[in-house]
Amino acid sequence: MEPSVYTLPLKGKPVRYLSLNREAAMTVILLHGFPESGRIFDAQIKALAQDYHLIVPDLPGSGNSDYNPQLTSIEDFAEIIKQIIDTEKKSQVVLIGHSMGGYIALGFAAKYPAFIAGLGLLHSTAYADSPEKKVNRIKAIQTMEQYGGPSFLKSMIPALFGSSFKSRHPEIIQNLIEQGARFDTRALQQYYQIMHDRTDRTELFKSLSVPYLFISGTQDQAAPKEDLIHQCSMADVALIAILDEAGHMGFMEQPDQVNLQLIHFLLLVKTLQSHV
Ligand code: MLT
Repeated sequence: MEPSVYTLPLKGKPVRYLSLNREAAMTVILLHGFPESGRIFDAQIKALAQDYHLIVPDLPGSGNSDYNPQLTSIEDFAEIIKQIIDTEKKSQVVLIGHSMGGYIALGFAAKYPAFIAGLGLLHSTAYADSPEKKVNRIKAIQTMEQYGGPSFLKSMIPALFGSSFKSRHPEIIQNLIEQGARFDTRALQQYYQIMHDRTDRTELFKSLSVPYLFISGTQDQAAPKEDLIHQCSMADVALIAILDEAGHMGFMEQPDQVNLQLIHFLLLVKTLQSHV
């Protein structure tokens, strides 16, 4: 059987990604957020791998991919995605990004619009950070400098989840904290810096007419539903789902709901493609 884990030397450092069911007609790339790895999408991989070619990278500095100090912007991370797509010899993909993964997906789409068949923002936003959020990012980078990444993640990660999930599944949250504690603190700081520096991408909704998917939760503080409802109205074709009681991690908190939305979205992309 073909191996499903690949390693590419990208910008001088190994980047690892899963590539499953390569024969399928449609390629879907799942881009994880902060501080996660491709493993975060286990439930989505299970639901989609039979019908779609899935590419699931560990972004540099996450999971099994090395931290790379040369990457200094969202656009640099987007280049990594381009290199994976070139290696896989794909001309069009559906990009689905969770939060920071969504910012990278938007950065990729702005530079390489012709490669995009559809774009999914899972608890992510096309807006840049607000001035207040920018201040908090810098404070977080300083906190990590002083106390280390793991100590920062201990307070940051629980806040990503909705209150009901948090009280029902403390073990899942603890597990995420422990996984995050293995990250190089410099990688965590690098992610915060590139998120802080990123630009507004709402222009894309006008210039790139592809189907968009937006998912938020009623308790998502990082990508609030009001922002996504507004962005949804800027796109020609879009689906939106607001998950009741979910926080910023809907695909873990309510995986069946999110998988269903992903399946609807991918069918929509396929239907629209067949009419072109
Ligand atoms: C993420 O989930 O990737 C981060 O929470 C994103 C952010 O802080 O904007």
